[in-house]
Formats: sequence, C-alpha cells, structure tokens
Amino acid sequence: MKIQNKLVLLLMFVCLINFYGFGQNKLIVNADQGDIKISKHIYGHFAEHLGRNIYGGIWVGPDSEIPNENGYRLDVMGALIDLEIPNLRWPGGCFADEYHWTDGIGDPKDRPKMVNTHWGGVTEDNSFGTHEFMNFAKRINTEPYITGNVGSGSVEEMSKWIEYINFDGLSPMAELRKKNGQEEPWGIVYWGVGNENWGCGGNMTAEYYANEYRRYATYARDYGGNKLYKIAGGANSWDLNWTEVLMKNIPLNMMDGLSLHYYTVTGTWQVKGSATNFDKETYLETLRKAAAIDDLITRHSTIMDKYDPQKKVALILDEWGTWYEVEPGTNPGFLYQQNTMRDAHVAAISLNIFNKHAERVHMANLAQTVNVLQAIILTTEDDMILTPTYHVFDLYKPHKEATLINHHLVTEEVSFGKEKMKSLHVSTSKSDDGTVNISIANIHPDRKIDLDVELRGLNASNASAEIVTAPSINSHNTFDNKEVVKKAPFKEFKLNKSSLKVDVPANSVLMIRVK
Ligand code: AHR
Repeated sequence: MKIQNKLVLLLMFVCLINFYGFGQNKLIVNADQGDIKISKHIYGHFAEHLGRNIYGGIWVGPDSEIPNENGYRLDVMGALIDLEIPNLRWPGGCFADEYHWTDGIGDPKDRPKMVNTHWGGVTEDNSFGTHEFMNFAKRINTEPYITGNVGSGSVEEMSKWIEYINFDGLSPMAELRKKNGQEEPWGIVYWGVGNENWGCGGNMTAEYYANEYRRYATYARDYGGNKLYKIAGGANSWDLNWTEVLMKNIPLNMMDGLSLHYYTVTGTWQVKGSATNFDKETYLETLRKAAAIDDLITRHSTIMDKYDPQKKVALILDEWGTWYEVEPGTNPGFLYQQNTMRDAHVAAISLNIFNKHAERVHMANLAQTVNVLQAIILTTEDDMILTPTYHVFDLYKPHKEATLINHHLVTEEVSFGKEKMKSLHVSTSKSDDGTVNISIANIHPDRKIDLDVELRGLNASNASAEIVTAPSINSHNTFDNKEVVKKAPFKEFKLNKSSLKVDVPANSVLMIRVK
C-alpha cells in the first residue's frame, strides 16, 4: 500500500475514534485534597399532604388492616429506616400555606376537616398532624423540617406552633402539647418560613415577601438551647431576581438558608412526557434538563456570594426531581408517576451536582417520598415497591458527611437526534476512615465504557463496588416484578495501587469505594 493511502487510512481511523469518542474516558481523582464536608442533608426528602403520599403511603391509621405501628405503614417505615434519610420536609409544598396546625392536634375524631384545594380538591381529615409527623420523624431517625404557613396564616399562628413544638416550660402552648400527650418538647431545628411565596404561597413580589419574612422570622423564637435553622422561601428555578432581592433585603443574621425549587419537566408544563414511554432522544432531553441544575446553582450562588461571601446562608434545594404526566387512569391532582432507570440517572446526576456545590448547598429534598412525582417508594393498598431512585439514594450513602474531593473527568459523548450529553457523570468524596467514594453514572443506553481512574495521593489495597442497572432506560419495578431494577454487587474493575480500571456498564449507576 502506498504511503499516502496508509496516511489516509490512519487519518480516517483517528477521525473515527474522535467521532465515536472511543478511548476518551479518564478520571483523575485528587484523593489527598479537599476540605469541604458534604452535608448529609443533601440526601433529604419531602412528604406533602398530596395524593397518596401521607394518606395511604405513610399513614393508614391505627385501625387499618394494613400492617402498621400506631398508624404508620410498617413496610414504608422499614424502607425509610433502611435508607437512613437525614431529614423529612412536611406538610408542603403548596399545602403548607393553607395548613392551620391547630386543626391537626387533639383527639383525631374532633379535628376539623378541610379541602385540599391544591391537590385534587379532596377532603383532608387532619388525622395526620403535628404529633403524628414529629413522632414519625423520631421513629425513622430523621430530622423533621416543617414549613410554616405565611400565605394564609399569621405571625401569631406560626409563632405559637414553634412554641408548641419546642418550649420546655410553663406556657399556654406547652401546656396544650402536654394535654395532647407529649410531655417533652420535640426540639425541631429546621423551619421553613413559607413555600413558593411567589406563587401558591401568596403570589407575593420578592420585595413584599422579604419584608414578610423579616416579620415572621422575628417571632420564630429559639427556646432553651434549641436554635432554629430558619429557611426563607426561595426562587422558582431561573428567577434570579428573587434571590437578589431576598439577599439584599434580609439581614444575614436573620436567615440560615434560602430555598430554591427546580423540577425536571420533559416536554413542557402544558404537555409533559410520559414517565415510562419515551425514546432515546427524549431520555437525553430529560437528563440534559436535570443536569442544568448545575448552572442554576452556580447562578444563584454567584448572587449569594455578592451579599454573603463567607457563605453563612446556605442554599436549600428543598424541592427537586422529575415531573411527568400522571400514570394513565390516576387522579391528575395526585401527581402519581412511575419511576424508571431514567429517574435513577436524574437522581445520580443531581446528587453528584449537589455534592459538587457542597460549600453552598446544605440541604436538598427530593419531591416526593411516596407515590408522588419522583417517589422513592410506590404503594398499592397493601403492597410496596422501591423505585430505581430509592436504590440510587441507597447506593450514594457513603457520600453523606464525607469530604468532597476534587476530580477531573474526560468522557465521551452520547447523542440522539438533536440531544447531546457527556456519557459519564461523577462525584468523588473521602470518608473519615480514608475510603475514597466514587459515584459514576453511565447514561449511555447501549455502550459500556472503559474508564481509567488515576487515584492521586492514594496507594490503595482494596476496592468494592455496587451497581444499579437494568436492561433498558425504560426499565422499572412493578408490583408484579419488583426487582427489575435493584442494587447489586459489582466486580468489573481492577485495582493496582493508584490505578483503577472500571468497565462501566451501559445504563448504570455505580458506587466504587477504594482504600
Ligand atoms: O411538589 C409538588 C408541588 O410543587 C409543591 O407543592 C409546590 O411547592 C411545587 O410547586
């Protein structure tokens, strides 16, 4: 063969490699660098009085035939205990700004009913109230995070609720709590001052809400040694002005956190995509929109940096997740959707991003826990399944309270139709015992990726790994087949001191731990 032809062939080969991106996957982990802790609260959850989340999902009442402990479903409670969830946000959501806490205390048969106007117009009987929530949080070893009512409540109402929950002395609210069976105060820390006050929480302007926040927060008292962690109702996704106005008008010593809500909507809010029936291009659309939260956090953080360079106020992503069309035949107001491997990737990508921003992001709450939106658990009358998203949260446990370590990733692209993304999405941290945790999502539906990992500053002698994967991006668990997607041990890697080679399967999420 002539030399020119050989050169042409070589050039074509190089082009082909570049085009398909083969051999371009390299991860450098600086295992000996890093000083920012990843707060466990980034792995938080959210249970609103919405659809079958509380009623039917968490709470069936003590007289139910569904196995329960004091009214809490045993299966769901067990799954939440196993997941070690760090916090649970309650009672909403939009519901929070319509909720009057005094309706939910005392003998359940005497509690007034109300209409849940936001979510299906159903009757709320208030059988799950403050005591039921606080005792549930205690039972599942999680920190309660209550959102108070600003939209239709009053300063007095919110102030008394805090006194009821936290005061350990002689006072009308403490006496009422004791009369209702709770001698000791619960000692809540996380307190939200309203929810989405730009919308369902009162349709306020940012300026108006900033003033209201100052007023409500003034009377949200600390009792005894208990210091409240006050969270201001934050922006709707890209509304940077809301963050700017709140940061400018609320003194830094009056708020500990500022919230931000971001939903990954496939299609448009008017015509949303299906949770289970989607093609590869739509799949990438969803993941691209989920990954946009990285830029979103950077934009809001940049504004916060201007007013709070020392990062005293945390960014609290207390609502995030996928939002699809409801499952056919279900109540549109109940927001019940299935959960596939696509949602597992959304969870993995999002959690990796939250870890990356750990210096500013202290808490995040997936919407929502049971039977609503990107749920971690789905139930029927008396049965339960764990979703792919549950398994990703389970896989990611080692990142909680670990130190964020820096990495550099070079990875090939995946594209379908007009959508294009990086194939691998990674987060790296180091546990207190020196174990390096590497979470990797390979979102490519069909291509296994050979990844070379260089562990700088680590002379490792052992590694272990677990995986969440399934045959297809649409794979999901059903009540007939509960383990299509589950967590399993993973062995396709080779460790040689500071070099790790991993065959990352297509459509998978991995956690590799090296020491
Ligand atoms: O999570 C469902 C709803 O989404 C919440 O109630 C509200 O805060 C948001 O708009």
